[in-house]
Amino acid sequence: MTEIDTTKPNAARIYDYMLGGDHNFEVDRQAAEQMRKLFPSMQNIMRVNRWFLHTAVARLVEAQFTCFLDLASGLPTEGYVHDLAPSAKVVYNDRDPITVAYAKQILADNAQVKYLGFDLTTDFDHVLAEANTFFNNQRLVAVSFVGIAYFLTDAQVITILATLHRWCAEGSQIAISWGVGNAQDSNIKAILESYTKMGSPLYVRSLEDVRTLLADWTILDPGLQPLSVWVESGPWEVPGSGDSVGADMYGCIITK
Ligand SMILES: C[S@@+](CC[C@H](N)C(=O)[O-])C[C@H]1O[C@@H](n2cnc3c(N)ncnc32)[C@H](O)[C@@H]1O
Repeated sequence: MTEIDTTKPNAARIYDYMLGGDHNFEVDRQAAEQMRKLFPSMQNIMRVNRWFLHTAVARLVEAQFTCFLDLASGLPTEGYVHDLAPSAKVVYNDRDPITVAYAKQILADNAQVKYLGFDLTTDFDHVLAEANTFFNNQRLVAVSFVGIAYFLTDAQVITILATLHRWCAEGSQIAISWGVGNAQDSNIKAILESYTKMGSPLYVRSLEDVRTLLADWTILDPGLQPLSVWVESGPWEVPGSGDSVGADMYGCIITK
């Protein structure tokens, strides 16, 4: 089993800290505070992204899906998919072995949940094969592809969505969040460059580019919308427009 190293910061635990969770260590908290100094709106972006996931999963539960596939899960801390859909079967996946090891500890007693450790860009077929077995061949699924599309190139998103399109049954639904903006804008360029330096390049797209990537799917109401619109009816205190959050993060639910 992978040892959990508490001397080095870990992206999933930093994210957990930014969301107000307690699955993090001092080293993660220090790294998060440093990030916050560099990008003050980062915490808001992460929070609104997670609230979108809540809103979307609640809608998928209402639509009576019983099988949930969450493709880039991070730490499944409180209020994550298995809490929001307690009677459903949930398959989680993340490529980071430390995140997977820690997540398995958190979920140890939950037989309704399986946590996988594949890279979506190279081993997505393995994710679907395991999901198939765990879901007893049920292909009518709710998928969350949240907090991940902006870490992937167009070619990677196209391959993953095309594979899902072939695999899932008609009527399946997928929630996706996107980074939307002009990559040539000088502020956005600076952020993209620092992510590239950290070894995790980020991709922002125009709304037109996002729609092109979704051409084979039907976008359900209320459409491709800023995350702030998705979460405004929720119980959260949504940051003001001055924080430039929401306008640059969009979300949608699509169906086959
Ligand atoms: C920002 S977190 C998103 C967590 C959660 N889905 C949410 O929206 O709150 C992104 C996660 O994606 C994982 N990830 C990044 N690239 C991946 C890939 N190619 N395959 C699988 N997981 C990946 C990272 O390890 C990280 O835990």
